[in-house]
Amino acid sequence: MPALVVVGAQWGDEGKGKTTDILGTSVDYVVKPNGGNNAGHTVVVGGEKYELKLLPAGILTPTVTPVIGNGVVVNLEALFDEIEMLESRGADTSKLRISANAHLVAPYHQVIDKVTERFLGKRAIGTTGRGIGPTYSDKAGRIGIRVQDIFDESILRQKVEGALRQKNELLVKVYNRRSVEVEEIVEYFLEYADRLAPMVADTSLLLNNALDEGKVVVMEGGQATMLDVDHGTYPFVTSSNPTAGGAVVGSGIGPTRINRVIGIVKAYTTRVGSGPFPTELFDDMGVYLQTQGGEFGVNTGRPRRCGWYDAVIARYASRVNGFTDYVLTKLDVLSGLDRIPVCVAYDVDGVRHDEMPVSQSDFHHAKPIFEHFDGWKEDITGARTFEDLPENAQKYVLALEQMSGCRISVIGVGPDREQSIVRHELLD
Ligand code: GDP
Ligand code: IMO
Ligand code: MG
Repeated sequence: MPALVVVGAQWGDEGKGKTTDILGTSVDYVVKPNGGNNAGHTVVVGGEKYELKLLPAGILTPTVTPVIGNGVVVNLEALFDEIEMLESRGADTSKLRISANAHLVAPYHQVIDKVTERFLGKRAIGTTGRGIGPTYSDKAGRIGIRVQDIFDESILRQKVEGALRQKNELLVKVYNRRSVEVEEIVEYFLEYADRLAPMVADTSLLLNNALDEGKVVVMEGGQATMLDVDHGTYPFVTSSNPTAGGAVVGSGIGPTRINRVIGIVKAYTTRVGSGPFPTELFDDMGVYLQTQGGEFGVNTGRPRRCGWYDAVIARYASRVNGFTDYVLTKLDVLSGLDRIPVCVAYDVDGVRHDEMPVSQSDFHHAKPIFEHFDGWKEDITGARTFEDLPENAQKYVLALEQMSGCRISVIGVGPDREQSIVRHELLD
């Protein structure tokens, strides 16, 4: 019966991986609907830390069938590296299924990602350099290579030839790089065909059949609302739709089957890469949040930019995704502060905005209007019920709930599976 979507409400790294993981054995299928190995999810199970880049976090629960949906761009080298890493640590990856329609990241996509960034200079996006944008561009441009193509060598060669005719012009004439041989790419893909074959499936059929049988399916989005190519801070975004609408497209599940859309939101805000970020801190406080929160990217190791909670963004994310619940993560990181500012609106050139400004230029000028909340000194990492939280922490959560567009159902007080307070069950 239930199909749930898990969506990042800010700029990523909110703790989506941990959220899927805590749903645990109540879930039968976890599908990744978008993105690729640009993601980075850290999941801590009994003190053991797992870092996932391409596979959904559900893979750590033995009873779950993990699925890579049609909306994902798959780097086969990264896929098999991750499978080997997990197998070597005792995880079972044999149930993994991959959509025949997912697109493949080719080595030339990674080259183009890096040179495009260099050519953008000061306007660079700060991508992860994993070839994500160029792979999605080829998908939209209808010159992409799909998973199913590598099982028909002659089709694969034709498609690679078609793509390279255009890419080589770009690489050689614009970017002054060497041209890429068709055979080099064909061989690169064919090398993985035998290992990949048993995993390939019509994943839309698989997931819809599972829902018909009353199984629980979670769509675990990569990235986040503010990185969405339509709804995010364009052009400083990723090239997929990490919002709830993208999750249904990227899984092949119809929107009428979705029961819950769960927004994951940090008790403060972080961002990796370039682009506007109204509540960003440039002083010691930013360094404090970065240190206390361990805010260093899993994927590229880059320090995350840090700032206060932004309720304008939360309201916006709640609206464009249709959130039914929030999971508020990392509340424990704020313990010890005297006062906690929360952005409730923006001042854009002297005009108050309670909602996201219509134009991106206005968003670049947005100055946060803060409301301040009293902090708490107690360590809350052992809290397991809402009443275990100090009064000021409770007030902070209730204030965020009131201004963020929907109820806060789960509160994270530490990285481990056990460190969560459940106010409303996500699966009922
Ligand atoms: P994702 O990309 O959304 O899955 O998030 P990441 O895994 O990139 O970043 C979230 C980080 O916060 C990880 O290191 C998690 O282990 C950690 N984390 C998640 N929830 C909590 C929490 O409630 N408290 C603390 N202290 N850490 C958390
Ligand atoms: P998870 O799933 C945070 C950011 C990059 C860059 C922009 C575009 O762990 O939340 P891309 O390589 O996708 O073309 O980069 O998006 N970005 C992320 N930031 N968390 C992520 O994933 C991200 N995936 C991409 O830093 O600014
Ligand atoms: Mg992450």
